[in-house]
Amino acid sequence: MNGNHALDGAAIFIFGATGDLAKRKLYPAIYSLYKEGKLSENFTVIGLARRPRTNEEFRENVHDSIKEFARHDLQGNGAWEKFAQHFHYLSLDITDPSHFTKLRMLTEQLENKFELTGNRLFYLALAPDLFGQVAHHLKDGEMLNVKGWKRLVIEKPFGYDLPSAEKLNEEIRDVFEEHEIFRIDHYLGKEMVQNIEVIRFANAFFEPLWNNKYIANIQITLSETVGVEDRGAYYDQAGALNDMVQNHVLQMVAMMAMELPSRLVPEDIRDEKVKVLRSIRKYKTLDEVKKHVVRGQYGEGSLNGKDLSAYRNENNVDPSSTTETFFTAKLFVDNLRWAGVPFYVRTGKRMPAKATEIVVEFKNLPDNVYFTQKTALQPNLIVFRVNPVEGIFIKINGKSPGSEMKIVPVAMDFCQSSQVGINTPEAYERLLYDALRGESTYFTRWDEVSTAWEFIDTIAHAWKEEGDGVVPYKSGSWGPDEASALLAEDGFKWWPLHGQEDDGLDCK
Ligand code: BG6
Repeated sequence: MNGNHALDGAAIFIFGATGDLAKRKLYPAIYSLYKEGKLSENFTVIGLARRPRTNEEFRENVHDSIKEFARHDLQGNGAWEKFAQHFHYLSLDITDPSHFTKLRMLTEQLENKFELTGNRLFYLALAPDLFGQVAHHLKDGEMLNVKGWKRLVIEKPFGYDLPSAEKLNEEIRDVFEEHEIFRIDHYLGKEMVQNIEVIRFANAFFEPLWNNKYIANIQITLSETVGVEDRGAYYDQAGALNDMVQNHVLQMVAMMAMELPSRLVPEDIRDEKVKVLRSIRKYKTLDEVKKHVVRGQYGEGSLNGKDLSAYRNENNVDPSSTTETFFTAKLFVDNLRWAGVPFYVRTGKRMPAKATEIVVEFKNLPDNVYFTQKTALQPNLIVFRVNPVEGIFIKINGKSPGSEMKIVPVAMDFCQSSQVGINTPEAYERLLYDALRGESTYFTRWDEVSTAWEFIDTIAHAWKEEGDGVVPYKSGSWGPDEASALLAEDGFKWWPLHGQEDDGLDCK
């Protein structure tokens, strides 16, 4: 593994080169790596999609995407031209094996030109049902007889249930070894998600408290203000359960609950995460699911003064759809550390705020010693702010200045976004960099994916049995009331997120 310096040269193949992901995330990420000197001059990017494009047209598209989405400005004085020379395009029909022979010829030519040693990174920004076919055609087209390494980077969704994920995995594993497969979960590329393990394991005052003796509950929120936008066709099949919970939400639970790995190396970290996923209690009957899970769907409403239409009126969505756009659940990690501690998770579209936050609520201390003051002690909180603000916030109790013994909550706030500037690398930038250097910690291993599906499938089956159990909520609200009731019945409430109500903090 390399350190934080220039990578070995590689050919990067982007399948789906004219698509949205490439435009918004991948080209800007490649540009940032180049600009920061992590990608030296010996690399080439080969854009692949069905549409015809000349190299010049392709470079223009890359230029526009970087101009619009990159966090670094485009350089003039010949620097752009130098960068752009690395980009080539081939119109490729992925169902036609002969096109892969053409690809091999182009690749060999470019590897000579850029003095590459045969390292190849295949990034499939494609619909997952094409992954298997592409992998086989790469093999049959002799694209994988490389002198260096070969790696496959694939996007979610990895299947739509366990059997389909297994089938997909078999197809890919026919061609690539597990250690060559990099399954993206872009939440794992987020700065503060990566910081969870450091905060937990590198600080003496957190680890001893990180268990059911001191922690009352953990709340994980991944909320979005947007609706399904132009992804109705995909989303109406997936719903929040497959789109967000199977991957991002469960990965965050795993990061919060895992044991300290014996070494900070990818396989050991993933071993610990998979143990958590295996320990999440499965809700096997419809009654159990109904008791612990709430699913909602946005109806009409308004946000920031703008009227919003209902999910069922979105493009490419079935007008009688019962797909959930909101999900809340009370989860339990059944091991000695976490027995009895609820993990409340929620994710939804058309919420009042775009935010990713994790709140750790500590148990109350006996407060009889403070009988002279009227206000009850508030619980200590540790809040991980992942997005849009990055930082950590700790709420403690302190004495209000003055002659009265009045206790008030006080915040200690580490605002990472204001400390290190908002220009921190994007998730895709880190993940692409990691894939290029063979660092797999923040990619999901097959046993993580399959274990997550086992859990998800039990809920999906119960919902199927129930039929339409989706509860409507207003666009611009925090979801159905049932989502709060899930906490209220345990004597808890959702803590306000950053910027919601008066959280008393200045972190910008
Ligand atoms: C994706 C989901 O994985 O994550 C989208 O498919 C969702 O539906 C997105 O909008 C949210 O990601 P982020 O990084 O904006 O929180």
